[in-house]
Amino acid sequence: MILITTAGNVGSEAARLLVERHVPVRVLVRDSGKAKALADAGAQIAVGDLEVPESIDEAMAGVSAVVLVSPGIPAQELNVVASAARAGVEHVVKATNKASADSPIARRRGQTEIEAGLAASGLPHTLLRSNAYMQNTLALAPVIAKTSSFGSSAGKGLVGMVDARDVGAVAAEIAASPGGHSGKTYWLSGPELISNYDVAAVLSELLGRTVTYREISFDENKNAMINAGVPEAIAEQNAQAFSLTAQGDAEWVSEDVHSILGRPASSYQQFATDYASAFS
Ligand SMILES: NC(=O)c1ccc[n+]([C@@H]2O[C@H](COP(=O)([O-])OP(=O)(O)OC[C@H]3O[C@@H](n4cnc5c(N)ncnc54)[C@H](OP(=O)(O)O)[C@@H]3O)[C@@H](O)[C@H]2O)c1
Repeated sequence: MILITTAGNVGSEAARLLVERHVPVRVLVRDSGKAKALADAGAQIAVGDLEVPESIDEAMAGVSAVVLVSPGIPAQELNVVASAARAGVEHVVKATNKASADSPIARRRGQTEIEAGLAASGLPHTLLRSNAYMQNTLALAPVIAKTSSFGSSAGKGLVGMVDARDVGAVAAEIAASPGGHSGKTYWLSGPELISNYDVAAVLSELLGRTVTYREISFDENKNAMINAGVPEAIAEQNAQAFSLTAQGDAEWVSEDVHSILGRPASSYQQFATDYASAFS
């Protein structure tokens, strides 16, 4: 049995692919109503909360491998690590970011803390260190629908954006066959470096009208996210990440998706086509 700790972008795709491969999979969710499609497909659903260790222990029964993916709050993910260690789990696949202890971005420091806890647990594990998810651009859909334009403080920064479904596919592959992946860190990216100007060009072609990208300041970007309903602390961290992007922080691609899945990583064009209804 493989346990996937949440059913967001990465977890739901990993679960879907494991079900497709007839690998027994259980997904921990707070609200079973949101996991109906996965349940209908054949995944087991465990209702729980990463804040509640007892609920994680219940979901961990009979589990051999864990896909550890969540918003990345250290106390919550360390609850999972402790539960997995108690249960004698054989492998943990951990979704993470460009974590470092001295990052200006709190969530990257948080991931460092989780990675250290995972290492200290002695559990065999694999880290999936991903570039920015293409799914982040879905947050732009409402403003694009209204104004045919979007702004960001990422400037002209290039990003090896990765489809979170590819991250889910890599997690599923490693969780199902962990041999040889223990102790490894994979850097997951899309196939190419793109800027927000390229995102605008792809969306213009897809929507059949011109979508314009505007370079805006850190404060403008942070306030726009707050006005769109993003909590202030998250808006601050997103804007910090965009500032780093403008300086080249996300300007990297790797072949790891291709080498693990045996097929190229998905392009932004493919992603936008698949999510056309969300953008239009
Ligand atoms: N976004 C990026 O560009 C990016 C890049 C690199 C790495 N990452 C990493 O990817 C991870 C996020 O993956 P994702 O995009 O798949 O996540 P996501 O789509 O944001 O989904 C998060 C899921 O966590 C669930 N959740 C939140 N709090 C919970 C709790 N206390 N107990 C149980 N479930 C809870 C949410 O469920 P509800 O529906 O109940 O809220 C949601 O299904 C993070 O570790 C992040 O650092 C992200």
